[in-house]
Amino acid sequence: MRLESLRLCGYRNLQEVQFTPHVGVNIVFGDNAQGKTNLIEAIWMLTGAKSFRPGRERDLIQKGAAQARVEGAFFAQDRHQTAAITLGDKRGVQLNGVEKKSASALAGSFCCVVFSPAHLSIVKDGPQLRRRFLDGAICQIRPQFITALYQYRQALAQKNALIKDLYKNAELYDLLAVFDEKLCQLGVRVYQMRRRYFAALSNWAGQIYSGLSGGRETLTLCYDSVFSGDEQALDAPQLQQLYSQRLQEAKKDDLRAGYSTVGVHRDDLRFLIGGLDCRLYGSQGQQRSVALALKLAEGYLLREFIGETPVMLLDDVMSELDPSRQNYILNHLEDAQVFITCCDRAPIEQLLTGRAFYMKSGHLEPCGSEED
Ligand SMILES: Nc1ncnc2c1ncn2[C@@H]1O[C@H](COP(=O)(O)OP(=O)(O)OP(=O)(O)O)[C@@H](O)[C@H]1O
Ligand SMILES: [Mg+2]
Repeated sequence: MRLESLRLCGYRNLQEVQFTPHVGVNIVFGDNAQGKTNLIEAIWMLTGAKSFRPGRERDLIQKGAAQARVEGAFFAQDRHQTAAITLGDKRGVQLNGVEKKSASALAGSFCCVVFSPAHLSIVKDGPQLRRRFLDGAICQIRPQFITALYQYRQALAQKNALIKDLYKNAELYDLLAVFDEKLCQLGVRVYQMRRRYFAALSNWAGQIYSGLSGGRETLTLCYDSVFSGDEQALDAPQLQQLYSQRLQEAKKDDLRAGYSTVGVHRDDLRFLIGGLDCRLYGSQGQQRSVALALKLAEGYLLREFIGETPVMLLDDVMSELDPSRQNYILNHLEDAQVFITCCDRAPIEQLLTGRAFYMKSGHLEPCGSEED
């Protein structure tokens, strides 16, 4: 999968941008606040997803302009295709010239994986962000996971509401067992799908991290859930039985806390480098490398599903990384079209194959680069 050309009009500070990227690595460099992330975001919009940055849709339209337009030509599913999105006045979406109802109709046509500095929070912050990352990645390739997760969350919300009600209506106590049974089934389904994805993710992330660190460090991923390591191999009925047991054991705590304290809604991931938890002990560069390895691993797993490598959008990925790690990103992400933003031109010197662009005040121009 690759972006062949991009044209932007009135998109954030990018008044008029037209460019033809390289099939391999594209470096976009420039000072702060010149429009590099805006460019990455505009490419991402062609996937049909919402922006990876917070804000409203109208924030994407250049201040003072009536509309923003993103037009892309890309090669995917063995053919040349086009997608266009107009925001603001006369909003519209076209895929291969055919009018679509909304941008979500573009989903699955042009696929990207994005790394932005905000993704560092997967490594640095609370478990919720790690679950969101894991769940988001699984949803892309297993639509049935969306249903399972939704049903689990619904059942959990109902059980939590019941726990709160029990203070006033103790006679509802027996109803808890009904919700617990549902939660056992749905929880095990969520667990098994997460677990399967996790196994593949940890394999890829480990390999990528090893490449990033030049083989000097080892990344191991751990998945903490309701079940311990040796219980993971059990089949679904056995897992449900155990799950049920764990819910029983937690009942007193649940009633005291006023919510369900045990279940897959508390799952977490840990990232160990040389056996030490990267969240607590990792250096800035190690934490960034782990977040990047996870995102790239997500991209390679998506490749297994869609049969081609998604475009990798790496925003501000170079800072805090030493030259050998930068070199890995620039020259070893085989078979992927990559867009990398950075503030200085130093990485261009290391780029073996690709193209570099200079972003200044929302204008993009090609600059000295090496071609294959
Ligand atoms: N709707 C908009 N209209 C006009 N300008 C906007 C709009 N939205 C954002 N901007 C401006 O775009 C500028 C560039 O933002 P961007 O995040 O792309 O910078 P950047 O080159 O990635 O910088 P950094 O290196 O600091 O990450 C910002 O100064 C911002 O104020
Ligand atoms: Mg930026």
